[in-house]
Amino acid sequence: MKNLLSVDDLDVGTVQQIFATAADMHDVQRREVKKLPALRGRTVVNLFFEDSTRTRSSFEIAGKWLSADVINISAKGSSTSKGESLRDTVMTVCAMGVDGLVIRHSASGAAHQVSQWVDAAVVNAGDGMHEHPTQALLDAYTLQQRLGSLEGRHVAIVGDLTHSRVFRSNVKLLGMLGAEVTVVAPPTLMPSGIGPWAESAGFHTSYDVDEVLPTADAVMMLRVQRERMSGGYFPTSREYTVGYGLTRDRLAVLGPDVPICHPGPMNRGLEIAADAADAAQSVILDQVSSGLAVRMAVLYHLLAGEETSA
Ligand code: CP
Repeated sequence: MKNLLSVDDLDVGTVQQIFATAADMHDVQRREVKKLPALRGRTVVNLFFEDSTRTRSSFEIAGKWLSADVINISAKGSSTSKGESLRDTVMTVCAMGVDGLVIRHSASGAAHQVSQWVDAAVVNAGDGMHEHPTQALLDAYTLQQRLGSLEGRHVAIVGDLTHSRVFRSNVKLLGMLGAEVTVVAPPTLMPSGIGPWAESAGFHTSYDVDEVLPTADAVMMLRVQRERMSGGYFPTSREYTVGYGLTRDRLAVLGPDVPICHPGPMNRGLEIAADAADAAQSVILDQVSSGLAVRMAVLYHLLAGEETSA
């Protein structure tokens, strides 16, 4: 694997290799000295054209704990704000001898386009409404740690599907790992044309969260992405919460061992109640620490030479 642009770049064997390395990296997180020499001499640039807390900081820490030199560039504060094109920015950065480029961009396909221009390994850290493959890896890793094998497990993904790259990567990866996935959204936030995709990929769609939750082995709530909405997708926040939020009442329907995921950032009180976000069965902070381990594993697999070892 040269790049990680999409879940389509992965197969079950590669995913399980990444998970095995992530488990080793999780152990490193518990050490007093959290440094491995694996990427000594390598340079990783985090190029973020959209805001991020979790993804950017975890890639930065991941690179540093693997002893890579890590540089962070965000659109605000870069020459992009002076009108420089994406291509010129990427080519300029790579002319400095970069080994890995972690990119987030608002345009679907941006990471793929960048990978055509550069020799560096490219990791898609979220491209528009298209994909977020390391998020899907960390979600599946977290669920696998909680549930054991995902084979035959029913995962409900609930919320703003239309604007969600997390959902698009997750249905592919969870399906690849044998999970039975049902995606739930109001009709206005169900992507157009999802029917044929769901049929060929083998996942289910529903408008009725209360019908789906009782049979879920895991629940993934998605953020209502107001910043990507140009029109009115639901009448009021209150109506969205009543229809699709993981409220205190819906939490009571879930078994006590059903993990609750959310990729973050959360709109507390809108798609998820504080009672659910902070419940004992919530794995939202586990997702964050798993995210660091998984991103260390991804950088290791993409950038460590044959002669290095974890
Ligand atoms: N889940 C996720 O991508 O979070 P950030 O936007 O904070 O990176």
